[in-house]
Amino acid sequence: MNKQLPKGFFWGNSTSSMQTEGGWNEGGKGLSVYDTDKAGRNAKDWQVTVDHFHDYTQDFDLMKSMNMNMYRFQISWSRIVPDGDGAFNEEGIAFYSQLIDDLLARGIEPMICLYHFDMPLALAEKYNGFLSRHVKEAFVRFGQEMMRRFAPRVNYWIVFNEHNLYFADGFENYSGVLKKESTLSDVYTVFHHTMLAHCELTQFLHENFEAKIGGMLAATEVYPASISAKDNLYVRKFDEFYNRNLCDVYAFGHYSKEVLTFVNNREIDMDWQAGDEEILNRGISDFISFSYYRSVLLDASQLSEEDAPNSYLTKGMRLNPLLVHNEWGWSIDPEGFRGMLGKLYHEFGLPVFPIENGIGQQEIWDGSNEIQDDLRISYHRKHLQAMCNAIFIDGVEVLGYLGWGLIDIPASSGQTEKRYGAVYVDYETQQRIPKKSFHWFKKVFLSNGSNL
Ligand code: BG6
Repeated sequence: MNKQLPKGFFWGNSTSSMQTEGGWNEGGKGLSVYDTDKAGRNAKDWQVTVDHFHDYTQDFDLMKSMNMNMYRFQISWSRIVPDGDGAFNEEGIAFYSQLIDDLLARGIEPMICLYHFDMPLALAEKYNGFLSRHVKEAFVRFGQEMMRRFAPRVNYWIVFNEHNLYFADGFENYSGVLKKESTLSDVYTVFHHTMLAHCELTQFLHENFEAKIGGMLAATEVYPASISAKDNLYVRKFDEFYNRNLCDVYAFGHYSKEVLTFVNNREIDMDWQAGDEEILNRGISDFISFSYYRSVLLDASQLSEEDAPNSYLTKGMRLNPLLVHNEWGWSIDPEGFRGMLGKLYHEFGLPVFPIENGIGQQEIWDGSNEIQDDLRISYHRKHLQAMCNAIFIDGVEVLGYLGWGLIDIPASSGQTEKRYGAVYVDYETQQRIPKKSFHWFKKVFLSNGSNL
C-alpha cells in the first residue's frame, strides 16, 4: 500500500505538568494534591521531575530536532490559581504564555490539557474536589481564563485527561476526593460535575474562538477472556459504561440510556440539577482523543448484576496469554489500537486523535554507549502500521499521533525506573541523552509516516 498521510498530520509528544515541571513551590504556585504526603502520594517524587519550570527549552529543541509538529502539555491549575478558587497568579500565566511562544517559534503546535489529576490541595481539603459543584465552577472559571489568554494562539484543547477514569474504581485519585469511604453516588456525582465542566468549556471555546476542543479517554481495549456468552455480555457492558457513555456526550450531547437506567435502578444521586441537560446538549466536541497503551481480558465468571460496571476490571481483569507484555504486565497489542481507532470513529463520527501511546521500560545509561531500545522502536512501528491500516483500509479519520513522554518523565506512580522516552533523562544531572529510537522517530516524523 503506497498511500500518504495528509499534509499537516500531527506528530508529537505528550506530557502532564506534575510529571514535567518541578518548581512545585516557586513562581507563586499553590500546592496540589501531588505536593503533599497527605493525599496518599510521596511529595518528594514530584518536586523536580524533569525540571521544565527552570528550563524546558532543551526539550523543545530536542522535539524540534525530532521533527515534531505538536506538543501536548498541561496547565497546572494550582500554578494559575494557587488556592483553586481565588486570585489569578500572573507569574504562572506569564510562564505558560512564554512556553507557548517558545513552541510556536519552533514550529510546534501547542495542545493544552486543563486537568491531569492534580487538584489544588485547598479545594481537595475543603470540598473533596470535584464532588463539589463549587469546585466544578472554580475549574470552569480557571479554564475560561486560560482560553481568554491563550486560545488566540492555541488551536487544540482538551479539558480532562483520561476522563473515563473518574468513572472507575479509584476515582478519588483523579478527582481530588480525600474522604475515605466513597459511594456509587460519589462516583457518579464527580463524573457528572466533570462532564458538565467539559461541556461548559467546550461551549465557551466555540462561542468565542476558532480553536478546536476534544474529549479524552483512557482507551484500553478489553476482550472477553473466553468464548462464554457471559464474558461477551460483560465486555459490552463495560464498553457502554466506560467508553460509550462519554463519547455519547462528546458526539451527541447526552449520556447513554443504559447508564441512566442503572443510575435510576440503583437510586444513585448524581447531583442532577435543572439546566444540566441543556449544558450537555450544547457541549459537542470537535474530536475524540485517547490514550492507548495495551489491551486486557475480562473474565466475568465472578461478576454478577450486583457489581457496578465501574468495578468490572478491578475484579475480572486478566492478561492475554497470546500477547507479549512489558515488565509491568502491559500487553503489546497494535491490532487493539487499530480496533479502537475504528470503533471510536465509526460509532461516533468525530475525527479521532491518539494523544498518548508508548511502552514503559527499565533502562540504565552506562555513561557512554547509546541505549538500544529496539523494543520501543518495534512497539511504535507496529502501532503506526496499525494506525495506517485503520486510516487506509478501515476509513478512519485520524488527526495525528502523539507519543507519551518521548523525552523521559517519571511514571504516574512517581517512579523513575519506568521510561517511555526516545531521549534518556539522567534525573541527577538533568542531562538528556538520545536513545536509538530518537533517530528512528526523527525519520518517521520527517517522512510524515512513510518511512517506518
Ligand atoms: C496515562 C496517564 O494513564 O498513562 C499518564 O495519562 C501516565 O499520566 C501514562 O504516565 C503512562 O502510565 P504509567 O503509569 O506507566 O506512567
